[in-house]
Formats: sequence, structure tokens, C-alpha cells
Amino acid sequence: MVCRKLAACFALTTGLAVAQPLPEFDERVHEGVASCASSVCHGKTSQAEDSPVWLNEYRFWLRRDYHSRAYKTLETDQSRRIAEKLGLPSATSAKICLDCHADNVASDQRGRRFQISDGVGCEACHGGSQDWLESHAEAGTSHTDNILRGLYPTDQPVARAKLCLSCHLGTQDKFASHEIMGAGHPRLSFDLLTFTANQPAHYTVDDDYLRRGKIVYPATSLMLAGLVLQSQQSLALLNSPLYPGHPVMPELAFYQCHDCHHSMASLRWQPEGQPDPLPPGTVRLNDGPLTVLMTAVDALGWASAKELENGWQRLHQASQTSVAVLQAEAENLVATLEPMVDVALDTRVSADEQRVLRRQLLDAAASGRYRHFTAAELAFLAVESISISLGDEGGFKQSMDNWYETLANEDAFSPQQFAVSARMVRTAL
Ligand code: HEC
Ligand code: HEC
Ligand code: HEC
Ligand code: HEC
Repeated sequence: MVCRKLAACFALTTGLAVAQPLPEFDERVHEGVASCASSVCHGKTSQAEDSPVWLNEYRFWLRRDYHSRAYKTLETDQSRRIAEKLGLPSATSAKICLDCHADNVASDQRGRRFQISDGVGCEACHGGSQDWLESHAEAGTSHTDNILRGLYPTDQPVARAKLCLSCHLGTQDKFASHEIMGAGHPRLSFDLLTFTANQPAHYTVDDDYLRRGKIVYPATSLMLAGLVLQSQQSLALLNSPLYPGHPVMPELAFYQCHDCHHSMASLRWQPEGQPDPLPPGTVRLNDGPLTVLMTAVDALGWASAKELENGWQRLHQASQTSVAVLQAEAENLVATLEPMVDVALDTRVSADEQRVLRRQLLDAAASGRYRHFTAAELAFLAVESISISLGDEGGFKQSMDNWYETLANEDAFSPQQFAVSARMVRTAL
């Protein structure tokens, strides 16, 4: 999976991407899933043979994609209880829930066939279709034409990550706060590459896809860019009004959940020899994506490795001083990360380099570096993704399955067992 003409793809599309607001803010009419779903459009019963796209995307979404159930989730007992604890009249009418569980655009942006109960429908990701619904199916219309008319560029990694993260991490406009978690909402996690695969895809990346000017990057580049963008967005949230939020306690959902939520009998000190900018007994910011990225950047010998590590140290130290100092360090780190998106996307990580990267992730895991669940799960996913990309995952599947078992229950997560299992994967490699 490679963008054949990388420079050309960039020239053509990054400028447009910057100008493109997220679908929730696109100010266009969202015509509704029913407008996409007719049997002559995207509602065929099986994949069309003579068309560049599947044309059964609607049925696939309905049956296989969790996004089609996102609104129904708000009707469950679990959601009813969450809403009750938060003092909301109902989950299905609360803006904070609908903003992530549906395509919650303003009422004057809802077309005739729009239904909020469709959940995260086509236009929640592809953008309001007011200006492209007719034209996008006409012969001779290019992908760029569609984007200029408001189709959201879901193929572009930066735009895609921003889109997914807007709901899977949150923004300053919609955030699953600790109050919402405390009321029973699950912890949110995300990894661009894995979640893209798990959605699951309702498209095929083939020659025709590339010919239409869509951008495709190698899996490892996408994974690295995802870690950079996720780190950036988490840091940016520290600089939003959400963070100070409360006069005494800052927003707890920015911290490592299990720093507070774990048994006092299972001690989780950083093993000796591992960098730890903070003393025991400190509540730490959730730096999961950043920690794994640091290992990767070091393994690949990127010029910014040392700067990133220093920025990470300073961030944690600043978290013990004042909100203003922390916010300044967060901003510095966002700036350090900025050029890394392009480095990730422009660099072809060779098979040999991927092996080095995997090895270093396993070494770090085996040495106890990832003692927080959020880092451990991303490190596992990175090793798994690289192995799939290298095509050798079959050779040590059993040891990977055993390693995964140590992540099965986050409340019972043991950093020590995670490290021991990582050592066994390393031996099995
Ligand atoms: C408008 C908000 C929104 C956007 C945008 C969004 N998601 Fe989701 N996603 C959700 C919600 C809500 C759920 C949970 C659905 C449910 O089960 O009720 C979900 C579920 C998922 C799941 C299943 C999670 C699991 O536990 O197995 C995957 C995978 C996923 N999303 C991937 C993506 C990807 C990839 C993108 C970007 C291309 C994306 N999502 C964009 C809101 C969103
Ligand atoms: C920032 C976006 C966001 C907000 C705000 C949000 N959710 Fe969610 N919610 C998600 C995502 C994403 C998932 C899927 C998590 C996953 O599986 O990774 C989810 C999962 C859930 C689940 C669990 C679904 C399952 O099948 O396990 C429930 C229940 C739920 N949300 C209810 C609510 C309610 C009620 C509200 C409003 C109080 C709300 N959510 C607000 C994004 C959000
Ligand atoms: C959670 C986000 C999300 C939702 C919801 C979603 N899509 Fe997509 N869709 C994507 C992504 C990501 C891609 C792949 C990148 C691309 O080709 O733009 C894609 C690709 C496509 C493609 C392009 C295939 C190609 O070969 O060019 C079509 C057509 C499509 N989606 C139709 C739909 C329809 C119809 C619905 C609703 C039934 C829908 N999508 C719902 C995210 C989503
Ligand atoms: C600084 C410590 C701290 C952090 C960090 C923290 N929590 Fe909490 N959490 C608490 C406290 C204190 C309570 C209230 C417990 C009570 O009322 O018994 C709580 C309550 C909860 C509850 C309700 C449990 C209950 O029995 O009422 C859930 C669920 C929860 N937190 C999830 C999370 C998640 C998910 C995260 C990470 C995103 C997180 N917490 C981060 C301290 C923390």
C-alpha cells in the first residue's frame, strides 16, 4: 500500500485538507443516510463488479460497522443510567452524547431524509453532501472536484486522524470527561492504524483507487503519523478551557486512569534503570501514545529523538508546578511534534528498519518501560501492526496471543506480566 506519486499527491491535496472543516462544522446540509442508501447508489445487496466502489457500503455499514449502532447505544440501560447520574433528561436528547454518537448537526443543516437515529452515518465522516450528492456520481467528476464541493478527505491521513480522534479522543467541544466516565462511560482508546482496520473497511485499495487520486500510505507510516497526531491532540486539549475546568481538581480524564484506579497491593513502580521524571505517588498525565512514539523515533534514528525525550521530561515536571507552566510545555511539545507528521508520511520505513523498530519496542516492553496500560496497549498494537506489515506474524502467533492476554482486562493489568510476556515474544521471534 503506497502512494505512488507522493509529492504529487501532497501538492494536490494537503492545501485542500487544511481548508476542510470537520463534517460536524461544515455548514452544509447533511442529506441523511437514506440519500446514500438506495439500491442504485450505495445500497446494493452485494459488491458491484463493474464499479470502482463497492456500492453496497450502506448494507455493510448497517451490518458490520459499529457506527451504525452508535445512536442505539444511547437507548440502552447503560446509557440511561449514565444520563440519570449526570442529571440529563435522556441520553438520546443530550447534546454531549449525540455529538459523538450521531451526526449531530444543527437543525437547519438536516435535510429531508436526515434522521438523528442513523447514528454515525455516512455524512458524519464524509461531510454534508448538499453540494456533491448529485455531482459525485456523474462521469468525469474527480476526487478533487468532490473535495472542493465539501466531501471530507477521509483518505488523507491527517484529515482522517483528526476526524476519528474528534470522537475517539475528544475535542474541546465534545469530551468524555471524568464525570461522564464516573457515570459509567467506558474509557476511550484509539490507534489510527488498528481502528482503521477494525472499522472495518468498506472499500478496496486497488489500482483503480490510486488512479482516482486517493492517497495511500504504507501501514508503518500511518501508524507513526497516528501516534504523532494523537499525542498532539491530547496535548492541545491541555491548552483548552477543558483542562483547568474545575477550581480545585483539573480534568482527571487527561491522567492515567489506573494511577488512581488500581489496587494498593499491586505496586507499579517504574523498574530501575527506566527514565521516570516524577517521584512515586504522583498522578501522571496520560502519555501512552507519546511513550511509544519516543521508542519508535529513537529506533528509527529521527533527528528529533532527543528533543522529544527532553520535551516529555519537561512536560511531566511541569505537571507538578502550575497550569500555566504545564500549558507552555504542552505547547512546546506540540511544536516539536509538528514536523514529525510529514517525516512519518514521507519516510519509507524499510523492512529492515521495521524489524529494528519491532525489536526495540519489544526490548522496551520487556524491560518494563510500558508500565501504564495506555502505553502497553499501543506498544502491543505497534508490534502486531509491524508484523502484519512484514508478513511474518504467523511465525510467533502463540506468543503474541499470550502477550495480548495480559491486556485483556485493564483493571487487572500487571506491568510485570506484560514485560515477561514481551520477553517471550522476543524469544519466539
Ligand atoms: C461522530 C463520531 C465518530 C467519528 C467521527 C468516528 N467514530 Fe468510531 N465510533 C464512534 C462511536 C460513538 C463508537 C461506538 C459505537 C457503539 O458501539 O455504540 C465508535 C466505534 C468505533 C469502532 C469500534 C470500537 C470497538 O470497540 O470495537 C471502531 C473500530 C471505530 N469506531 C473506528 C473509527 C475510525 C477509524 C474513525 C475515523 C475514520 C472513526 N471511528 C470515526 C464515534 C465516531
Ligand atoms: C468524545 C466523544 C464521546 C462522548 C462525548 C460520548 N461518547 Fe459514548 N462512546 C464514544 C466512543 C468512541 C465509544 C466507543 C468506545 C470504544 O469502544 O473504543 C463510546 C461508547 C459508549 C458506550 C459503550 C457502548 C458499548 O457497546 O460498550 C456507551 C453506553 C456510551 N458510549 C454512552 C454515552 C452517553 C450516554 C454519552 C453522553 C453522556 C456519551 N456516550 C458521550 C464516544 C463518546
Ligand atoms: C466512521 C467514518 C465513516 C463512515 C461512518 C462511513 N465511511 Fe465511507 N469511508 C471512510 C473512510 C476512512 C474511507 C477510506 C478513505 C477514502 O477512500 O476516502 C471511506 C471510503 C468510502 C468510499 C470510497 C471507496 C473508494 O473506493 O473510493 C465510499 C464510496 C464510502 N466510503 C461510502 C460510505 C457510505 C455510503 C457510508 C454510509 C453508509 C459511509 N461510507 C460511512 C469512513 C467512513
Ligand atoms: C486523580 C485520580 C483519578 C484519575 C486519574 C482517574 N480517576 Fe476515576 N475516579 C477517581 C475518584 C476519586 C473517583 C470517585 C470514587 C468514588 O466516588 O467512590 C473516581 C470514579 C471513577 C469511576 C466511578 C467508579 C465508582 O465506583 O463510582 C469510574 C468509572 C472512573 N473513575 C473511571 C476513570 C477513568 C476511565 C479514568 C481515566 C480516563 C479515571 N477514572 C481517572 C479518581 C481518579
